Amino acid sequence: MARVDPHSYFDDAQPRAVSWRLRLRADFERKVLRGTATLVFGADAQGPLDLDTKGLSVSGVVADAGAAVPFELGPEEPILGRRLRLVLPAKTRSVTLAYETSPSAAGLQWLSPEQTEGKRLPFLFSQCQAIHARSVLPCQDSAIARVTYEAEITVPAELTAVMGAGPAGDADAGPGWRAFRFTMPQPIPSYLLALAVGELEGRDLSHRCRVWAEPATIGAAAWEFAGTEAMIARAEALFGPYDWDRYDMLVLPPSFPYGGMENPRMTFLTPTLLAGDRSLVDVVAHELAHSWTGNLVSNATAEHFWLNEGFTVWAERRILKALRGEEAASLAWGIGQKELEEALERFHDKPELTRLRTRLQGVDPDDAFSVVPYEKGARFVVALERAAGEAEFDRFVKSYMARFRFQSVTTEQFCAFVETNFPGLLAKIDAPAWLDAPGLPDGAPRFVSARLEELSGLALSWRSGRGPDADAMAKWRPDEILVFLQRLPRDLSREECARLDAALSLGGRGNYEILTAWLCLAAAAGYEPAFEGARRVLTRVGRMKYVRPLYQALGKTAPGRALAREIFASASPSYHALTRRAAEAAMALYPF
Ligand code: BES
Ligand code: ZN
Repeated sequence: MARVDPHSYFDDAQPRAVSWRLRLRADFERKVLRGTATLVFGADAQGPLDLDTKGLSVSGVVADAGAAVPFELGPEEPILGRRLRLVLPAKTRSVTLAYETSPSAAGLQWLSPEQTEGKRLPFLFSQCQAIHARSVLPCQDSAIARVTYEAEITVPAELTAVMGAGPAGDADAGPGWRAFRFTMPQPIPSYLLALAVGELEGRDLSHRCRVWAEPATIGAAAWEFAGTEAMIARAEALFGPYDWDRYDMLVLPPSFPYGGMENPRMTFLTPTLLAGDRSLVDVVAHELAHSWTGNLVSNATAEHFWLNEGFTVWAERRILKALRGEEAASLAWGIGQKELEEALERFHDKPELTRLRTRLQGVDPDDAFSVVPYEKGARFVVALERAAGEAEFDRFVKSYMARFRFQSVTTEQFCAFVETNFPGLLAKIDAPAWLDAPGLPDGAPRFVSARLEELSGLALSWRSGRGPDADAMAKWRPDEILVFLQRLPRDLSREECARLDAALSLGGRGNYEILTAWLCLAAAAGYEPAFEGARRVLTRVGRMKYVRPLYQALGKTAPGRALAREIFASASPSYHALTRRAAEAAMALYPF
């Protein structure tokens, strides 16, 4: 008997489900999914089987022939949820569990019509990474146990259901209901299960790529992401053939807590990417790159998260360099450098979480989350790339994909594979300093570009009044503005805020990276003309990358804290559970 994932009751000595059959109905009145999940085993199974559940009510379990299977729900563990132990009779090929989700399921958000763009119909979306699939279905919720699946999702007839899977038709399901079918033939980790239901319209961007959004945003979405096919082609040249058939995207309502989520065949995206100038499409490059680094080859557990995210940031910037050139890529690395430094600072009293290879027994992966595995991880990959040589490393990446495709790997497996291909390379770059020590090793790769230096210099001298002139600033591209804002002193006066806003018209920006970087500076300065903007963002947008720092910045002054508390009181009932937690964590650090 062995549990192999600190965040799951999955036991690799027990029978393993190789596929799921889901039949669920979305009840928007009660905010529950209700129906059955069938777990199909690869071989005759028998004996104890431990599943993960969180907030699920299980009403019955039967084996293939219809015999009742005894089951027992363990006590609620704060991070893991409740273990569901079945005892399978001999020669069981599948078990079917009848169950329903909780209205407050951590992996689902049920939105009222007012929380959508169209304001007419409700919306539902899932977000299963890291360990929330167990709040959607009873399963072996570990990336080590991959599954294929089929699903039939019945929804109110005026709504459309999409999944991170291949569509397999839809049909009437009685008056007022419609059933949507899906099949996912490639084996995926449970955290990649994805479902959304809403008033949705699709628009084709290429023969294998379609964007879905609410009717009110579909035009903007199709324009913003028109370049996606070119990205897929670039990514294939770098990492090998795209193995998932279609690459579709779904633009969610603004409460979606992440920028993007790499659900297979259907990337989920925040609508804050719709900047109107295609300046935020690097998030699409990132989620697309996960089709290789993350979805084809997945981290075995959250302790190896850097394998997903570090590799993907590296891949995203390779795509960016190929499409937009060396300088654009350098600015992206520069922006990431600053975010990394801030995260290392934020985690200075939890240095163990700034290792790449983490130990997360008893730690909620949502609490361990930061940009460290992203930006430190990507720098480690670059260190390997530079030591091996770019062409050699590109070949290595393709063979890594080929060797581990549709598998989930640990840091140790990765290192063994590197060692086989490049004997001595890990020692040469002092891999243990990257993987097992906190912080960023001395001699980590730096990314220099003339423009990055110039913008940093301008930001440092801006206070003395020797900054760039307004005409020059008006011509800056979005990534240039962001680099500049990131490097300004953190303690601007209100006069300086006014001068900055006048030069860059920051309050009216459609690019949310720029808008929130500005709002954070202004909020920390207690610059009240920006308070309304902060309120608008915190009332509408759930992306944690923006919500946490904004609440943090408002905490710096008494009027800011009063505003934050007022916004939280009125807006938090409609926040995603993750967003609410992030906001609460930021406000818990307020001085009073
Ligand atoms: N897989 C992540 C999102 C995620 C991570 C969800 C951990 C839940 C737990 C996704 O690929 C991601 O990294 N999104 C970023 C995009 C950015 C790095 C370009 C985000 O949401 O900000
Ligand atoms: Zn990612």
